Amino acid sequence: MGTVRELPNRLQAEKRSRGNSSPHWFHQRGRIFGLKSELDEASTLLLNGCVTHKLPSQALLGILVAAVFGPALPAAAAPQLTAPVYETRTEHDPNGIGKFYMGREIAHVMGHQAAGWLERPDREAEERTDLLIDAMQLKAGETVADIGAGSGYFCWRMSKLVGPQGKILGVDIQQEMLDLLQRNMTKRQITNVTSVLGTTSDPKLPASSVDTILMVDVYHEFDQPYEMLVGMQRALKPGGRIVLVEFRAEDPAVNIKRVHKMSQEQAKKEFAAVPGFTWERTIDVLPQQHILIFRKNSTPK
Ligand SMILES: C[S@@+](CC[C@H](N)C(=O)[O-])C[C@H]1O[C@@H](n2cnc3c(N)ncnc32)[C@H](O)[C@@H]1O
Repeated sequence: MGTVRELPNRLQAEKRSRGNSSPHWFHQRGRIFGLKSELDEASTLLLNGCVTHKLPSQALLGILVAAVFGPALPAAAAPQLTAPVYETRTEHDPNGIGKFYMGREIAHVMGHQAAGWLERPDREAEERTDLLIDAMQLKAGETVADIGAGSGYFCWRMSKLVGPQGKILGVDIQQEMLDLLQRNMTKRQITNVTSVLGTTSDPKLPASSVDTILMVDVYHEFDQPYEMLVGMQRALKPGGRIVLVEFRAEDPAVNIKRVHKMSQEQAKKEFAAVPGFTWERTIDVLPQQHILIFRKNSTPK
């Protein structure tokens, strides 16, 4: 079984995605003048929770050394910041993409062509989505991000509970899903739901803006789960929460394909890889899924 390991450097990846923000004179006057901006950037990334808390001081020292001595040092001298390890296997479940994270195979994304299944009339009775919404105990005025919102099944139901002062952000990576979501809201004359086009690594939500994040049957599809959790961590207000809903992998009676289920143990392990989340409780009121609540720490631990 062949394996390929990806070890992206988060700092470099973050810099690439934002473009090179180093000032012009950084290049003209030599690397030493770039030192402050490099350190500022590293500190910002650390504060934003973009890297794990492992070796932060060594990491900063590494950046300092690299900034001063630059190419004079061999690459091995700069310590690697901790990054997720993804693994690709050639032999895998046909329902998965062959990419593994912490031993779990990631599932294929559900295409927008299957959106009708999300809106099937017997869904409420089968999944007891009414109990799920009750269990969330949403408050008027909350901002809720529904990540992997699909057709907006949960968006309009939640929109009534947060009321006109509240806001629902329906995030998805498929524009076709968002178009459908928007049509579903217009049909119901709902005005407090906004659609957001995210990417596979970033939910594209403003920092510290969201009280609650809901994910129903979506996390197991993320092909960059670590990066998504980092983005969600950044988007949550301090003390904000993630409501994670997945079909129970522990329960053989749940008749869903293996890669579309998730165990509590696996979910907790993956959340623990991103500093700043605490598992709060699991709510077991649904016939087939578990509801896990993770809280963003109010103060850095
Ligand atoms: C199985 S559907 C669930 C839809 C909705 N949560 C529901 O239960 O009705 C999963 C959705 O997640 C979306 N998705 C997959 N990866 C995503 C990502 N990284 N960010 C946002 N949405 C994503 C897919 O496009 C799809 O619309």
